[in-house]
Formats: sequence, structure tokens, C-alpha cells
Amino acid sequence: MFTLGIDSSTQGVKALVYDAAADAICASAAVNYGKDLPAFNSPEGFLPNEDVKIRRANPLMWVAGLELLLSRLSQKFDLSKIDAISGDGQQHGSVYLNANWHSALASIQKADSSLTLEKHLQNVFSRESSPIWMDTSTREECRLLTKRFGEALQLRTGSPAIERFTGPQIYSFIRQEPEAYAKTVRIHLVSSFLCSLLAGEDAPIDTGDGAGMNLLNLSLGEWDKEICTFIDSNLESRLPAVYLPGEPIKLRLAAYWTRYGLRAGIPVAPWTGDNPAALVGTGADRPGVAVISLGTSDVFFAAMKFFATDPAGYGHVFGNPSGGCMSLVCVKNGSLARERVMKELGCDFRFFDETAFEMQTDPTENKCAFPFFEMEIAPLHEATGIEANFDWASASMDLKVRALIRGQIQNLFDRTRWIGQFDEIRVTGGASRSAGIRQTIEQIFGAKVRTQETTDAAALGGALMALRALKIS
Ligand code: XUL
Repeated sequence: MFTLGIDSSTQGVKALVYDAAADAICASAAVNYGKDLPAFNSPEGFLPNEDVKIRRANPLMWVAGLELLLSRLSQKFDLSKIDAISGDGQQHGSVYLNANWHSALASIQKADSSLTLEKHLQNVFSRESSPIWMDTSTREECRLLTKRFGEALQLRTGSPAIERFTGPQIYSFIRQEPEAYAKTVRIHLVSSFLCSLLAGEDAPIDTGDGAGMNLLNLSLGEWDKEICTFIDSNLESRLPAVYLPGEPIKLRLAAYWTRYGLRAGIPVAPWTGDNPAALVGTGADRPGVAVISLGTSDVFFAAMKFFATDPAGYGHVFGNPSGGCMSLVCVKNGSLARERVMKELGCDFRFFDETAFEMQTDPTENKCAFPFFEMEIAPLHEATGIEANFDWASASMDLKVRALIRGQIQNLFDRTRWIGQFDEIRVTGGASRSAGIRQTIEQIFGAKVRTQETTDAAALGGALMALRALKIS
């Protein structure tokens, strides 16, 4: 049995094929938006904007990325062998669709179309660019939601009002572009949007990704009527259904995708967010171990035994795709910040890794640098640039690298104390390749760090969710 997992993240999209009999990954492919799809003018996965609060992307870039990905994968692996598909998307980002959406979906059900998916979707968007998780432009909407719901928001949805979360983003679209909003018949997350394209029908939103909206009542497992109505009296009708873990899988692959060799009609399991998918992919979906994902964002998360919220308000509770909940803290300045410092210093990843490794030789060194290139969310920070507890400008390159890694990991440690202490931390994401960074985590968190064969735990999580779907569909 072979299953396919797709991870649509900020800077690119990846896929891997999982061979269940061998418990191994047997093929993979990747697309980088900046390098492979330069026409979308998004070198880092979003449209450049001088206003650091505004971070948006063209949803057609995600569509073009998915097609290129499957075409690349089909050259490496016979996709007719795939038995089920699932995947994940960067969290919180939202896609706004108009009255043409459902007929476009119906056309994806047909195999004979000579059109590319991008062409099918030319006229379906009521908003041309989608806000993504890096967007922090909704402060006023968060204030209004907090004023109306106070602490209840965090108790019901798992998070206080958060600028990047989809509810405040929808609210801001309504307030700023009421006419375009009025044309919106459906609002999807990145995950449910791409899943809908595979199935040729509206896919539900799972509780892992749905909890990143400030709209999902976690204890009821449904959209919170009061919160939705406060934003828009018809908001619930614009949202897809909520998918709860273990429910039957109804979606099937649309005929459009046979052009890549895939078989129409195979189960498509509802997608989730990249972090909940990585929870599954690292095998940390049962309480006991925590995960650090070092991707565009640096994220700490763990399956929860009991529902508990972050008193400081930085952290979140999301649904766990395997049932129950997961805790999560996301630091925005992760790999993008590491990449920027590497560029500024003119060094490569290997230098970074080796220099971080040397930290062990001087564990008393207390120098920390915090990269705030993007407006930070944990802790809240508006200025941009490097903040260091030493003279950054005159420091040696080695010290800069060590202090940066130490600063990033120490910050993650400080923000996650409410989640608890763990004996074991599983690491994933591109930067988890670095032994130096792993050792820094070991030192600061006082935990054993474990890696696995793939650094793409999110895509693997998708493939494992697809395997589970085969058992329940
Ligand atoms: C999590 C978050 C990011 C995105 C992009 O809350 O905002 O981790 O999911 O990876």
C-alpha cells in the first residue's frame, strides 16, 4: 500500500510517497516558489510589501506549485500505485472564493479538460491575494473581538484574539473591502482549499487547522455561533464543514488528476495545518514527547493530556488530528531570519551548523541575539533588526552565529514553560539537519533530542493520515 502526503508550506510545497509495507519513504519531490515559480514575484513565498504588517500571497501560486509538484513526482514514481492522499498547509492563511467556485470545482471532476488547474480557477477569487500567517495587520479587529468576548475567546477557541488568525483576518476584509467580501461565497484555509481541488468539491476544515481561526469552539467541535455571528451574521454559511478526527472519509480524488497517473476515486483525507501534520509525522500525537519544528517559523508543540491555555497569551491550543488537543507556540523569525543572517555574514549553512556546535565548548557564554526581521509574535515585537545583549556590530562572525542560535532557542524555551518539561524532544524541519542546532536545543531544554530519517515530518504526517483514511473510508 502506498500513500501520498503533500505539505504546502510558506516557501514551497513538498510531497512524499510512503510505502506502508516497508514503513519507508520511497519517493519525494519539491517545488520552491521563489526559484521555480518566479512569475508570482514571491521570492520568500509571499508578495513583497514595504508595510511589514502586510504579508499576502497569490493563491494561484499554491495551485501552480501543486501541479508542478505532482508532475515532478510522477517522473520519479508511478502514481497509479497511490491508494490514498492527504496533506497539510501553512496555518491561518485564507482563500476567498466567489460564485464561480463551485462550477470550477465541478469541472475538476472531469478528466477530459485540456485546461490547467490555474486556468480553471482564473475567475473564482473574490480576493486576489490571500493573507498568510505572517500578516499582522488586524490589530483593531483583535481589539474589537477581545472587547466583545474577553477571556471567553481563549477558553472557547484555545487562543486569545491573534492577528494572524483567520477570524480577525476575515473581519478585517469585511471592514476594509465590504463589496469584495459580499461576493465571497466560501472561505477556505490553505489546507482545505488545496484539498478541495484534489476532491473537486468543498473539503471540510479539520480541528487542527480550524483552531487557528479564533472561530472554532474546541469543546463542541463546531464553529462558535456567537463569535462567527459577531464578525458576520452569515459567516457560518461561508465556512466549510468541520471535520472531527475519526469521522468517515467521504472525499475522493477528482478525475482531473489522472493526468499525473493518479487513479480517480481514491480516498482523499481532509488536510490539516502543517504543525498538526508534523505532530503526526513525528509520532508525537500521543502525550509524552514534544516537537520542535525548525521551518520558516520555529514552532514548539506537544499533544496535550488536558486542555490548558497559555496565561501569557502567546501560545495556542489546536486540535490533534489523532484526537484531543495539542499545545503550540510559534516564533515567526525562524529559518527566514537564519537565512538572512547567513546572507549578511556571507556564510553557508555548514558554517552555521559547525559554529553552533562549538557552543558546547563554552556553555557559560551568555551572549544572545534575537533576530526581529519580521514583526515578532512571541514575544510581541514591532521593531525590525537584530537585538543583542552585546555589541553586535563589532562581534566576530562566530559569536554572531552562536548568539543568534542561542537567542532563538532560548526564546522558544522561555515562551513554552506553560506547556511543561519534556524528557524527549523530536526535531523536524530543514534546520533540524544541523547537529549544532540540535545540541543547542539539548543544552537549553535539558532534554534528549531525537531526529528521524526525514526532516519533512509534515508531509510524512499527511501520508500517515492518508493511510489511516484507508482504514476508515
Ligand atoms: C503556527 C504558524 C506557523 C505556520 C507556518 O501558528 O503560524 O507555524 O503554520 O508554518
